[in-house]
Amino acid sequence: MILFVLFLYAFFHFITVTKQLEKTVAKLQHEQKAASHLPHVILISQVFDNPYWRKIEQGAKEAGKLYGVNIEYIGPLRTSIDEQVKLLEKAIASRVDGIIVQNLKDEAFTPLIDKAISRNIPVITIDADAPKSRRIAYVGTNNFEAGQLLGQAVVSRIEGERFIGVIIGTDTSENQRLRLQGFLSVIHQHPRLKVVSVASSSISRIQASIQAEQMLRKHPNISIMVGTSALDAIGIRMATKNLHRNDIQIFGFDDVEETIEAIKNGDIVATVVQKPYDMGYSAVKLMVDHLSGKQIHKEHFTSIEVIDRQNAQQGRNK
Ligand code: BGC
Repeated sequence: MILFVLFLYAFFHFITVTKQLEKTVAKLQHEQKAASHLPHVILISQVFDNPYWRKIEQGAKEAGKLYGVNIEYIGPLRTSIDEQVKLLEKAIASRVDGIIVQNLKDEAFTPLIDKAISRNIPVITIDADAPKSRRIAYVGTNNFEAGQLLGQAVVSRIEGERFIGVIIGTDTSENQRLRLQGFLSVIHQHPRLKVVSVASSSISRIQASIQAEQMLRKHPNISIMVGTSALDAIGIRMATKNLHRNDIQIFGFDDVEETIEAIKNGDIVATVVQKPYDMGYSAVKLMVDHLSGKQIHKEHFTSIEVIDRQNAQQGRNK
């Protein structure tokens, strides 16, 4: 009798567990099916694990969740035009519903963006525009104005006759070119300030440090150094530390944690901060609007601001 009761108990327990499992599997299958029906948008970054791009990813995924878009974030491990081009080609070949990409070099990216458009895959440029292409919109900083803001940050905080060294992120990208132009347009109005050298960091902190060190050895009269992409100022700071040149005043771009810490302790004077989270979010929102047939503006500029020691302590938005 006892055995029979035990058997019954085990039998019903088995049935209940099986039913629960079936339900869970069905729910998972349903969720998977629903996700595979969502529009699939690929976001191609310049460097996969760069903190600035991670913020773009965060904004894009947040908007993806809200608007029902499946965002796939990809990018090379180190900046490489070739690799980024390959990722773009692959995205076109796999017929995704939309592509969000940065333009690292006009000649390489414009024809590919146009190819995507001709296959009915909408492309939004982010962070660095490709204005000669048929991209449906650009989302990001007005980079000429950002360069001017960097110039004004230097002019208003620095006195006397000074020589300046500049580290830019990449030689070919539209955003770095415009930032440098904007910066020089302001500096050229002040004959007491002179830019003596420009080098590229390949958006790597180590390269920024190596380039800055070489520059400072070659031009010991430089007393101001500026960096125009997210990791340049902290790279420059590594160089000035190595050379024991604490007299160098550093200006940078973006608000990666180390830059803000260095501003708080006085190692970096100021930084021009972009809004990468907003870029990612808005790019996805615009893609959704476009896919649902709405008209969208061709240029969507996100805001910029200067952070120095005075406002670094205050809470800021993403
Ligand atoms: C630039 C991006 C770049 C990033 C690299 C930012 O300032 O806008 O183009 O990828 O810095 O760290």
